[in-house]
Amino acid sequence: MSAVLIDGVAVAKSVRAECRVRISRLLQRTGIRPGLAVLKVGDDPASAIYIRNKTKACDEVGIRSVPHYFDRDCDPQAVIDTILRLNCDPSIHGILVQLPLPPQFKVATILRNISPDKDVDGFHLYNVGALAVGEAIFPPCTPYGVLRLLEHEAIPLEGQNVVVVGASNIVGKPMALMLMQRDATVCICHVKTRDLAQFTILADILVVAAGHPNLILPQMVKTGVVVIDVGITRLPDGRLAGDVDFEGVRQKASYITPVPGGVGPMTVTMLLVNTIASAERAAANLHVSMFPGQIAGSSAVKTA
Ligand code: GUN
Repeated sequence: MSAVLIDGVAVAKSVRAECRVRISRLLQRTGIRPGLAVLKVGDDPASAIYIRNKTKACDEVGIRSVPHYFDRDCDPQAVIDTILRLNCDPSIHGILVQLPLPPQFKVATILRNISPDKDVDGFHLYNVGALAVGEAIFPPCTPYGVLRLLEHEAIPLEGQNVVVVGASNIVGKPMALMLMQRDATVCICHVKTRDLAQFTILADILVVAAGHPNLILPQMVKTGVVVIDVGITRLPDGRLAGDVDFEGVRQKASYITPVPGGVGPMTVTMLLVNTIASAERAAANLHVSMFPGQIAGSSAVKTA
């Protein structure tokens, strides 16, 4: 068997075409153009590349992206003050704080200050909770993109054994919740899992987001498995590698995503989708109200 390659570039292109249509309809109907504020702190080279890709994708579909860049050693309060201003800015529908942040930052505190109505990454506690109870407003972009790829290939999820390798807040945990919502049987493995292969061998669908090249070898999967490789690591020779031994595993799998060109383009694309959804919600006057009468995010959140 040689697996069908899931072409993330092609699927992203078709979703971005849908984005353009939604934006021009919204603009025509309401005069609203979706706006995304992009906050970067410091000069992490990987973050700079991600932000460049996100900004370019916004330009391509007609989202106005607004950069806010801060020095590495800035006061976290300056970032919070900017977020609070953006929460109240009607021309901004999405606020993205690129992670990771420098060590003086408490990520949880920063994320909690983003209005849940503009949290297009889906990282605010409100949105994490909404996802957990099956009422997601902004599903986190990478797992959302994985679901779009599976849907595009018409791969059924109901009753399937899905093994997710990696339990991060950004990918593994929301991925598991979204799959459970679709009635898959989900198992999450992580760095402390003993004998990973005893779990991966059971997978009908294997989603790997560990950041370890060659973690998944052919003997760890069953014939016909669907493999989604979220990992992306820059090798010393400059090439990008996923977490899966691609050449070996593709001989046993029914479907597999390549790296690059699989999940990566979908992550950026689903950020566009969430930003447009946010602008459409704003146009319809839909708001998450944390407490009756209170505009969420209107005052700073301090956490211990
Ligand atoms: N850093 C790595 N992935 C992400 C992401 O999806 N969103 C943000 N904001 N930062 C990230």
